[in-house]
Amino acid sequence: MSNTKFSNFILLNHPLVKKDVTVLRNVNTPSESFRSAVRRISSLLAVEISKNMKVTKLEVRTPLELTIGFELVQQVVLVPVLRAGLGMVGGFLDIIPDAKVGHIGLQRNEETLKPKQYYYKTPKNLRLSKVILLDPMLATGGSSSQAINNLKKRGSKECMFACIVASPEGLYKIKKDHPDVKIFGAALDRGLNEWGYIVPGLGDAGDRTFGTL
Ligand code: PRP
Ligand code: URA
Repeated sequence: MSNTKFSNFILLNHPLVKKDVTVLRNVNTPSESFRSAVRRISSLLAVEISKNMKVTKLEVRTPLELTIGFELVQQVVLVPVLRAGLGMVGGFLDIIPDAKVGHIGLQRNEETLKPKQYYYKTPKNLRLSKVILLDPMLATGGSSSQAINNLKKRGSKECMFACIVASPEGLYKIKKDHPDVKIFGAALDRGLNEWGYIVPGLGDAGDRTFGTL
């Protein structure tokens, strides 16, 4: 983990993450390798994000005797933003297998860059859950900010956001709109180009994940 000038952003500073972000950036990486790199990075993000989750003690019987074990205090709810966030779910579930999974469908308008929501399904009341929003790309921040608004409308009080590549513009927007939300990411890039793509970035994460280029 390493700190940047953004107080709301935790950059995962890990050699395997750096290696896999390079796989994602490479224009010649096929979808299959892209998906598996997203999954590995997601697992490492999940380890970092879950580091301070509270546990409670319980008794557990081993084949030899009764001893003390632990369980998570709070239900974890993963919420991928469709489509590209779907690629992160498997890696998170590998680490937090009891998590529930909600979905939010958002699509950026290519001209205005404003997101339009077309799907929403999470547990009805998120008040007591730890919610982790998943979207590999934090570009203008419009999509993730809207997603967090909706999670808060469903009662979410503790929301974190896991992305893979963040832009400074997106980090500023989330900090302004949702100062309570911590963002975990694998890379912090230079900025956005005139079409709202992160540069150097990795291109369109949804298309690269699902081979729809
Ligand atoms: C991408 C990405 C984010 C969003 C980021 O999705 O997965 O959801 O853009 O951009 P923003 O921070 O400027 O809002 P897109 O709208 O392309 O949908 P898709 O995953 O279905 O292709
Ligand atoms: N969405 C993507 O998939 N990539 C970007 O660079 C910006 C938004």
